[in-house]
Amino acid sequence: MTASAMVAEFDDVAAWTADAVEQLGERHAIPAACRGSASPAALAWLAEACELSPGIRLLDVGAGAGGPAAWAVERFGVRPILLEPMPAAGRAAARLFGLPVIAGDGRRIPLRTGSADAAWCLGVLCTVQDKAAVLGEIHRVLTPGASLGLLVVIARGPQLLPVPDGNHFPTQGELAGLLAGAGFEIVEQTDQPGGMPPSWSRRAEQVAAVIATRHRAEPAYALAAHQGERFTRLFASGQIAVRLIHAVSRPAGHPLKSRMEER
Ligand SMILES: C[S@@+](CC[C@H](N)C(=O)[O-])C[C@H]1O[C@@H](n2cnc3c(N)ncnc32)[C@H](O)[C@@H]1O
Repeated sequence: MTASAMVAEFDDVAAWTADAVEQLGERHAIPAACRGSASPAALAWLAEACELSPGIRLLDVGAGAGGPAAWAVERFGVRPILLEPMPAAGRAAARLFGLPVIAGDGRRIPLRTGSADAAWCLGVLCTVQDKAAVLGEIHRVLTPGASLGLLVVIARGPQLLPVPDGNHFPTQGELAGLLAGAGFEIVEQTDQPGGMPPSWSRRAEQVAAVIATRHRAEPAYALAAHQGERFTRLFASGQIAVRLIHAVSRPAGHPLKSRMEER
């Protein structure tokens, strides 16, 4: 159940999204291919916090269908490297945006140590049980002092409603401990990323409508919809929330000193 729900949510829907964008036009691609609850305001907060700039190598771990990385290329001129374990999602990112995608798992990133200038990991950690392994690998492949932008769905208390299959929401305290343990220092964070403008949500909804028309009768559609409904109920009841975090990578063995102390 867990595996098939996650495949439906992340792989099948990504492939259907790429098909629907082909019908509706490329202006629909980025809004529809941002699958981690990201809005342009959230992406802008992360990009500015991470000081993205033209030419820097941005690794997007769990890149999905590639919407956030494509946005960062379009707005900031980064050189992206996408890592995504679900094959159809990776193919969707390549097809929609022509971006380089590595098929792989965040727990064993097939890149050299210190080979990325910045990393994003958006909406991924809550879907991974071994969060420490993913954060440890991201730390390894980043250059020392590099920025990590995270979008994490966190638990604000006990989750009394059913949780979407395969999700394990960390509390804010657990997340802070995991980041420190992996060698990251949190620089800033916010839970007020700003909503989606209608121009963005309208396009995402149009893509969703095409997908519904074409695939409503398929079991994978029902599984993915069921996951979405559980998320919606948990958000509406205040049991989970989105948090954006900007952290920096400390060299291995470097004592954690706050940025203020360094000034
Ligand atoms: C909610 S989606 C977010 C996708 C994308 N980051 C975005 O914001 O649009 C979560 C993604 O994490 C990926 N994922 C799950 N487990 C992973 C792992 N162990 N390593 C890397 N990515 C993983 C899923 O395949 C899925 O594409």
